[in-house]
Amino acid sequence: MKRTCCSSRHVAALTLAAAAACLPALSQEAIYDEARIPAYTLPDALTMADGRKVASAGEWRAERRPELVRLFETHIYGRAPQPTTPVTAEVFEQSEDALGGKARRRQVAVYLTGRRDGPRVDVLIYLPRQARGPVPAFLGLNFAGNQAVNADPAIRLSESWMRESRGENVLNNRATEASRGSSSSRWPVEMILARGYALVTAYYGDIDPDFDDGFRNGIHPWFYTGKQTGPAPDEWGSIAAWAWGLSRILDVIETSNDGLGIDAKRVAVIGHSRLGKTALWAGAVDERFALVISNDSGCGGAALNRRRFGESVRRINTSFPHWFCDNYLQYNDNEDALPVDQHELIALMAPRPVYVASAEEDRWADPKGEFLSAKLAGPVYALFGYEGLPAEEMPAVNHPVAGRIGYHIRTGKHDVTDYDWTQYLGFADRQMK
Ligand code: GCU
Repeated sequence: MKRTCCSSRHVAALTLAAAAACLPALSQEAIYDEARIPAYTLPDALTMADGRKVASAGEWRAERRPELVRLFETHIYGRAPQPTTPVTAEVFEQSEDALGGKARRRQVAVYLTGRRDGPRVDVLIYLPRQARGPVPAFLGLNFAGNQAVNADPAIRLSESWMRESRGENVLNNRATEASRGSSSSRWPVEMILARGYALVTAYYGDIDPDFDDGFRNGIHPWFYTGKQTGPAPDEWGSIAAWAWGLSRILDVIETSNDGLGIDAKRVAVIGHSRLGKTALWAGAVDERFALVISNDSGCGGAALNRRRFGESVRRINTSFPHWFCDNYLQYNDNEDALPVDQHELIALMAPRPVYVASAEEDRWADPKGEFLSAKLAGPVYALFGYEGLPAEEMPAVNHPVAGRIGYHIRTGKHDVTDYDWTQYLGFADRQMK
């Protein structure tokens, strides 16, 4: 959920630079020409804020990694609280014979604060029917409710608030029956199951509705202390809240008796677009995620801030002021002042495998900036003895490259396709099985 960024109370609390950044002037057009990108110098992932060089995996783990997490929290995503009470979960529906005999299905109500009067996330799980023992899984939030992931009529229809931009499938901000299966091209469930993986998904709006209400709904208010009415400038925005929700779902997998049939040590977190930004942040703060996949995550995700190509920091902060913490506003048209850039976010996955994917027509998300982040995380992987991304130049379209870091740019637009999933499954087979 979101707040109004230019309320007078809010502006009074901001520095001059941030207040200027709040002005609605969005006249600046996006840069789509490499020649117009201003010269920039990226921060070095292996240099500490005090100038010391990081020379070993041990120093990275003990010093630089925590420092970078703090910097990303303070300046971009906001710090999320530690859960005060354990999450609780209740399987409310299951079948041993779903999807025409190909799957076992579980639907689980997850109470994020452990309380029934707190936010409830409905988690949909498909397991391969024939699997013996716990299986590896892909966990990803969805945009339009679990019922949109597959036409399976047994999936509980979302009752949560939903953006209206999805045409007839959403009426009065609620999903309709017509939405069943409407996102199925992005979730090739049968392909995932046939490869021996489970799919775990939930609607992101169950954690925090994606609109501007001043952070009164969703998970945030459950953690306000004293007279607090909204997150402080360095506290969690919506992306950090969605990522926090992903960790709570992993808690459930980890703590349920039989792990719900899933091996908690082999859970890949995946997301598209704003939920790709979310998957990256979840993987950065929660090292239990064994593999991390960013599909077309763009600005605030895998793309380098300093390139300013396509969507810029000012633009994203103006269109979606609730996604990041308020401190990020200070970097509108001021990217060079950021103490971090997104290659260091990718480096936070090390030594775990990470995959970054772009689409040729998705210039808004800056495919080259996404590639460069993946590539430039390499030196941190090298500390652990891994080859990062084995490519000097951006690979040709539909020519995936992968070491411990994977990357592809495919033909087509901003979307998740079978081509993307084919690469993710192959990468997961090689890195996680
Ligand atoms: C907008 C936004 C992007 C975001 C995308 C999405 O295009 O500008 O940053 O990734 O929405 O989440 O669909």
